[in-house]
Amino acid sequence: MLGKKMEEAINLQINREIYSAYLYMSMSIGAASLGCKGSAKWLMVQFHEEMVHAMKFIEYVADQNGTVDFGAIAGPSGQYPSLCALFEKVLSHEQAVTASINALMEIAVGERDHATQALLSWYVTEQVEEEKNAGEIVRTLTMIGDNKTALFMYDKDLGLRTVTVPTDFSLGVTAAMKGA
Ligand code: FEO
Repeated sequence: MLGKKMEEAINLQINREIYSAYLYMSMSIGAASLGCKGSAKWLMVQFHEEMVHAMKFIEYVADQNGTVDFGAIAGPSGQYPSLCALFEKVLSHEQAVTASINALMEIAVGERDHATQALLSWYVTEQVEEEKNAGEIVRTLTMIGDNKTALFMYDKDLGLRTVTVPTDFSLGVTAAMKGA
């Protein structure tokens, strides 16, 4: 059973995760407009990952007999003069998401809600990976600077990232992702 405070906090996080997906889709378009097709693909993979993050929370609230509150999703804004500026925004966004996951964990600990703490542990680990990935890309792009040949090659590398999008969620999000 989910407490009201915890339920409201998770519902806010569902909104943040879907906003993240929305943001990365918009960034994908931004990267493509800079001529960086590989990065555009990387960001679309990230879009799908964020939707899975949201779905895991949605499934959890439903499993706990809670109410999922589908609030309005804000429109992402931002102009990206360079690929490095774009990925700096990815990094700062992920740092903000980490802070919100940590805040959720603090509520769960305060409420002695062990089930939600178990769920959130997955997100805590995931955020380490999210920040690591974005940080590495920012460092590489900073090193590349104005070297267009190096940027072209690195963008191709980023385009190697793939995702298989599952379509059968009948056994839950985790099972669907394992089968993907
Ligand atoms: Fe759902 Fe990128 O954190």
